Amino acid sequence: MTDDAEGLTIWMTGLPGSGKSTLAGILQTKLRSEYHRRVELLDGDEIRKGLSRDLGLSKEHREEHARRVSFVAKLLSRNGVMSIVALISPYRASRAEARETIGPGRFVEVYVKASLEECERRDPKGLYAKARRGEIGNMTGIQDPYEEPTEAEIVVDTEKGSPSECAEKILGSLRKMGKL
Ligand SMILES: Nc1ncnc2c1ncn2[C@@H]1O[C@H](COP(=O)(O)OP(=O)(O)OP(=O)(O)O)[C@@H](O)[C@H]1O
Ligand SMILES: [Mg+2]
Repeated sequence: MTDDAEGLTIWMTGLPGSGKSTLAGILQTKLRSEYHRRVELLDGDEIRKGLSRDLGLSKEHREEHARRVSFVAKLLSRNGVMSIVALISPYRASRAEARETIGPGRFVEVYVKASLEECERRDPKGLYAKARRGEIGNMTGIQDPYEEPTEAEIVVDTEKGSPSECAEKILGSLRKMGKL
């Protein structure tokens, strides 16, 4: 199958607690109801319960996790199904590899941006607190690095505006890029 304008992958990267899953959920709902698109949500946490259940949090395993997710997104995208990926994907090289795997024309990187201080204040899963207490390791932002995107087509600052405003901003940018 050749390129299909419908099969876009929206790759959302950002620190834990930055708002990837929140925005991905809103985007999925809106893309279905307002844009009548077939959309699959690939959330890193969910995929770790299945396809990536054998993987841990080392650099190699995080890279492998991103590789598996990008493979699934590629299959969906080339068959006209839109994918929304919500994955910390902390390593720049992994994201570049995903872009190549999926195809640069079908890949849009969205940096879901919030400061570490704000993410730690939100701490929706209580993981920052656990990491600070030394109960868990390999927490991105605390013990593990997060390499800020330099190639992102869209940057959304989730400290400025509500989730629905941020989701609208992403949709507006995609429209301007001719992707919707
Ligand atoms: N503008 C915003 N956009 C998204 N989330 C926001 C915004 N403002 C506040 N929040 C809050 O920030 C939190 C983000 O949590 P969420 O689970 O979406 O993060 P995540 O990036 O998916 O984290 P993880 O990588 O750990 O899965 C939620 O509690 C959400 O309500
Ligand atoms: Mg999440």
